[in-house]
Amino acid sequence: MGAVQSLLVLGGTSDIAAATARRLVADRTRRVVLAARDPARAEPLAAELREAGATDVDTVAFDATDFGSHRLFVDDVFDRDGDIDCVLVAFGLLGDQSALMHDESAAVELVEANYTGAVSVSIPIAERLSAQGHGTIVYLSSVAGERARRSNFVYGSSKAGLDAFAQGLGDSLHGSGVQVMVVRPGFVRTKMTAGLDEAPLAADADAVAEAIASGLRRNAHTVWVPGPLRVVMSGLRHLPRPIFRRLDI
Ligand SMILES: NC(=O)c1ccc[n+]([C@@H]2O[C@H](COP(=O)([O-])OP(=O)(O)OC[C@H]3O[C@@H](n4cnc5c(N)ncnc54)[C@H](OP(=O)(O)O)[C@@H]3O)[C@@H](O)[C@H]2O)c1
Repeated sequence: MGAVQSLLVLGGTSDIAAATARRLVADRTRRVVLAARDPARAEPLAAELREAGATDVDTVAFDATDFGSHRLFVDDVFDRDGDIDCVLVAFGLLGDQSALMHDESAAVELVEANYTGAVSVSIPIAERLSAQGHGTIVYLSSVAGERARRSNFVYGSSKAGLDAFAQGLGDSLHGSGVQVMVVRPGFVRTKMTAGLDEAPLAADADAVAEAIASGLRRNAHTVWVPGPLRVVMSGLRHLPRPIFRRLDI
């Protein structure tokens, strides 16, 4: 794939998405659509990207849980802005596991945003990218989806579903010119994790952005951030259950 000239960000107020948009605009990206629940809150980033050299930056309304609006939303963006080289699926909710254990509506809201919303919006996106014959969908999955941990298993289960969906979509689009890249960060210092104890191998949003830019250049299908988490999570995944249960994670 060539350089990303046009970028659609779903979750345009996300810190990781902001770092990624800055990183791509510093490279060659010139058209950016920031889609957010409250587009006004994406305006400061839009102004910054214009200042950094992007020639055409829009902010538009998008709610991951408003499933009925997704097809029209995707058609509007592609009809107005033309070809999109890269779609970054960045929206997500972390939640507080102990609170979620007593609040089923909050748990459902989290799962609907992280998983169902991603599925709902991805189908029209995959259709439009297939029709144009090129493009990459980048999904912000998480190491949390690799093996559910009791400390955040509602979130982890939503990311496991998202990750599996993205892998299957990537395989189904193989040969169409459309790629799917699954990004699995560990703990990233953003507003999502503000106030939480840092996990080992914690990273900044800029490190995720750099890994995404590098993954796009080499058409990677899976990116771990930081890279050594791949080995760590593989070990964790294969730990026998009685040992896994004794871990304080
Ligand atoms: N930070 C980490 O440690 C970490 C690690 C692995 C993966 N990730 C994933 O990376 C992605 C970005 O996270 P981040 O760290 O950048 O967190 P963030 O700054 O809190 O961004 C999360 C974004 O999701 C948006 N969002 C939530 N519900 C939405 C909905 N129903 N519709 C549209 N947008 C919605 C939020 O929009 P509002 O501004 O409207 O609330 C916000 O822009 C998430 O999918 C997260 O799960 C994060």
